Amino acid sequence: RPRVLSGIQPTAGSFHLGNYLGAVRQWVALQESHDAFYCVVDLHAITVEQDPKTLRQNSRVSAAQLLALGIDPERSALFVQSHVPEHAQLGWVMQCLTGFGEAGRMTQFKDKSARQTADHVGVGLFTYPILQAADILLYQTQFVPVGEDQRQHLELTRDLAQRFNKRYGKTFRVPEAYIVKDTAKIYDLQDPAAKMSKSVPAGMVELLEDPKRSAKKIRSAVTDAGREVVFDVVEKPGVSNLLTIYSALTGRAVPELEADYAGRGYGDLKKDLGEVFTEFVTPVQARVAAYLDDPAELDKVLARGAERAREVASVTLARAYERIGFLAPA
Ligand code: TYM
Repeated sequence: RPRVLSGIQPTAGSFHLGNYLGAVRQWVALQESHDAFYCVVDLHAITVEQDPKTLRQNSRVSAAQLLALGIDPERSALFVQSHVPEHAQLGWVMQCLTGFGEAGRMTQFKDKSARQTADHVGVGLFTYPILQAADILLYQTQFVPVGEDQRQHLELTRDLAQRFNKRYGKTFRVPEAYIVKDTAKIYDLQDPAAKMSKSVPAGMVELLEDPKRSAKKIRSAVTDAGREVVFDVVEKPGVSNLLTIYSALTGRAVPELEADYAGRGYGDLKKDLGEVFTEFVTPVQARVAAYLDDPAELDKVLARGAERAREVASVTLARAYERIGFLAPA
């Protein structure tokens, strides 16, 4: 069985629709046929300041969402990154292989750091993608299911794997990004030129917010000139984004939806999509609440996941250390 690994940040607590359609949905599908490792990346979360209590709660909320969305802990190793110390350890090794300029070219870093003054940008934000490379390489991962915004980090990961292998001998599998084109980039409902993201709450649909609020956000989504419901990313980016979401949540093809809404307006589309989303998310929210009701059981699931992850990660790290020339402990 080919190996997959992916991660998600616990920073916001609730995932948004972009996280689900761009990534987590693929995680759920892939666990059927792949050897899957999924982690809540709390080490990555502290690259920006976190309140300790909130971080701890959000890590559980993230794990609960993954379970509620269909990650099966019997099939997949579901764990929290900080429980597997090998991530930080291999992260250091990878930092020593990365060029300063190379890290500086990461567009996510450039975007995130541009919003702050130099002293507010931690070095961890700069080395963030290098830790991500370690996450992936520790598991000899073949596929990494992510959204479009992670493509550049995946390229860096591949470069680092190849660089290490060339310098020290074949140690890491060179992974591939697994990006599903249709849902690789879900757009902001208020600004269909930007991706849906945690930094812009108004245009973001959260899985854990009141679905009435989500339906309202969908109803007030920015649409386009005209009134025909047609998929056209250039002329009608707003409507196209709604059609993408609708299609992904119902499994109905876009042309079928276009036919359905022929002669009706954007208003009908938005109203119905609000209902579709509500129907999808209501049972998910109930399951999240049930998992959070029993944090001890949730922590047990995560402990088991970490144990399985360490079995693989420790072997890879030991091999890498040996290749580098670290003296083996007697
Ligand atoms: P994060 O937590 O920002 O997002 C989690 C996943 O959601 C995807 N995503 C989107 N997909 C489509 N449309 C959107 N608008 C949208 N917004 C977010 C992201 O592409 C991601 O797949 N660096 C990663 C976390 C990470 C990781 C890893 C991923 C750490 N280590 C190892 C893969 C492998 C991140 O910040 O994701």
